[in-house]
Formats: sequence, C-alpha cells, structure tokens
Amino acid sequence: MAKRILSGVKPSADMMHLGNWFGAVRQFVELQETEDNYIFIADFHALTTVHDAGLLRSYAREIALEYLACGLDPQRTVLWRQSDVPEVCELTWLLSCATPMALLERAHAYKAASAEGAEVSMGLFCYPVLMAADILAYQADLVPVGEDQVQHIEMTRDMAEKFNRQCGSEVLKLPAHRVNQAVARVPGLDGRKMSKSYGNTLGLFEPDGALKKKVMRIVTDSTPLGTPLDPETCHVFALHKLFGGAALDELRDDYVHGRIGYGESKKRLLPRILEGLAPIRERYEQLRQDLDYVEDVLRDGAARARLVARATLDACRLAAGFADPPRR
Ligand code: ADP
Ligand code: TRP
Repeated sequence: MAKRILSGVKPSADMMHLGNWFGAVRQFVELQETEDNYIFIADFHALTTVHDAGLLRSYAREIALEYLACGLDPQRTVLWRQSDVPEVCELTWLLSCATPMALLERAHAYKAASAEGAEVSMGLFCYPVLMAADILAYQADLVPVGEDQVQHIEMTRDMAEKFNRQCGSEVLKLPAHRVNQAVARVPGLDGRKMSKSYGNTLGLFEPDGALKKKVMRIVTDSTPLGTPLDPETCHVFALHKLFGGAALDELRDDYVHGRIGYGESKKRLLPRILEGLAPIRERYEQLRQDLDYVEDVLRDGAARARLVARATLDACRLAAGFADPPRR
C-alpha cells in the first residue's frame, strides 16, 4: 500500500540549486509515482524570520513555482501553502499542552539562537510544535528530511505519544523519518558541499550566461595540460557524473590518459547541465507566465489537505474533551 510521504519546505530568498535537485527534490518527483505525496510550503515557519508581507508572499509563490517546474504533478502530489490550512494552528495548541518546555529548550535551533544572544520569539521557541502539528495533522507515515531536521521528527513522535497517552486514544500516528540519502553529495564551485550558506551554488534557474561564468570558476588544482587527471578527486568530474551517460565514459578515458585539461572539461560540462536541466528550466519559464495557474494549484492543494487535517482535528478534539467543532 502507498505510504503517505510528507515534507515541508521553508520559503526563503534563495533559489533551488543543483544540490537540492539531485539531493532531495528529484526523489520527491520520483516518489509521486508510487506513494501518496504531500508537500507544503512552510510559510508560517518562515514568519519566524521574514517580516515583510510582500517578500513572504513572493517567496512562497516562487518556491511553489520551482517545485512545479521540477516536475511535481498536482494530480499526484498534494501541494499547498501551510497558512491556507488553519487547522495546524489548532493542533499546535493541543500539542503545546502536551509538550514540556524542557523538551523545546533542547531544540538545536533555539539553543543556537539563544547562545548567539538573539531575541528569541515565542514563534521560534515553539517552532518544533508547529512542525509536529504539520506532520501529525496529515497522519504522515514517513517524513524525508535533511540531517538537521531529525531532532524535530523525534520531538514530533514524543509529542504524539504524550498526546495519545493523555487522551487514552491513538488519535495521532507516529511518523518515521528518513534522512535523505543523496544520490551524490553535490560539490559546489569551491569543492565544499554545494550550499546556499557557502555561496558556492549553481542555481537551477539561473540564466545561461551566469551559469557559464560560474562553471568556469570551479576550483581545480594546477596539474599541467597533458598530464593524466584523477576523475575521482576532480569537482568538475563529480558534476559531470550527475548527468551520467556515454559521454561520461569517454570523459573518464580522456582524464586518465591525459587527453583533457580542466578548462576543456568545464567547457563540456556547461552544455550537459543546460541539456540535462532543459525540461525543468523550460517549464519554469512557462509557469512564470502563468502565475494564476500556480495559485490555482495551491488553492486546490489546500482544499485537499484541509479535508485530511480537519478529520484529524475532529478526532483530537473529541479525544481531548471538546465538543464537536461547529461546521464551517
Ligand atoms: P542548503 O545547504 O543550500 O541550505 P538545504 O539545507 O535547504 O540546502 O537542503 C535542502 C535539501 O537538499 C536537503 O534534503 C539536503 O539534503 C539537499 N541538499 C542540499 N545541498 C546538497 C548537496 N550539495 N548535495 C546533496 N544534497 C543536498
Ligand atoms: N523545519 C523544516 C526546515 O526548516 C521545514 C518544515 C516545516 C518541515 N514543517 C515541516 C519539514 C514538516 C518536514 C515536515 O527545513
């Protein structure tokens, strides 16, 4: 039977990069073939850091557009904006009353912010409770996450267990997590892991010219031309590998026989990136011309997600001792 896979993505000013695509988003697109895929834009969570209404709105729409461009199919994946389903706030309160402050005080994000002396809002402190509500409202089986989010899923299970115990009823399903097993650790321009925080990314939707400049800047060593190169330690080759195919075998051969220099390898890389990503980049341009469609997808997704969340909340309210909610 298909599993319900759920994931949230916090909107920000940064656009998707090659690391996100090969490390995470591509798997979601594949999962929609066989699983029950639920993906939402975590704009309530973004409010912990973004306090400009126009920006928050545009970041949320941009990330939805990027996911659709990457191939999420609204027929097979429920895609919505977190803030369009107010039930998660209702569940956040119910869970808050089953969550010891001491649990939240152990959260890495809260500890890091307070260690820096930053002013910590209640929103940031309660971030893990809202995240638990996101997951539990939709009765998710599996939550694929990056390493940094594992603690939040463990806390989610703690909260669900405690809530169920207090109510004497298994109303909330305990989710499992899976750390995204990246097909590859995609290296950035400087050879470290490609990451927004290192400023070493190749953006999925950057113009051709900008991508070309960046590819030519990829850091390599100073092996002279005509000398064999080691494909296994070369960052340019690691990027070639992502696109596979017969051209890769040929390139490996050229590397080990000293028939190619790094400059030429970079020149060959650019068209492979542009060709490999062409369908995604084309869809992105089309969708940008049809933002009403993106809004329609999000609205429809919210209606579908809300049905599930409402059913969970009705069960939770009853189990916790509240009357049936008034029908809206
Ligand atoms: P960033 O490091 O750019 O902030 P995120 O932490 O937002 O990226 O990552 C979102 C998802 O993309 C995570 O699931 C993460 O595992 C994946 N990812 C990010 N960068 C890479 C990379 N360089 N190689 C493989 N996967 C990556
Ligand atoms: N906290 C996650 C992040 O920063 C985003 C997120 C919010 C999320 N709610 C979620 C992820 C629920 C998975 C499930 O990346």
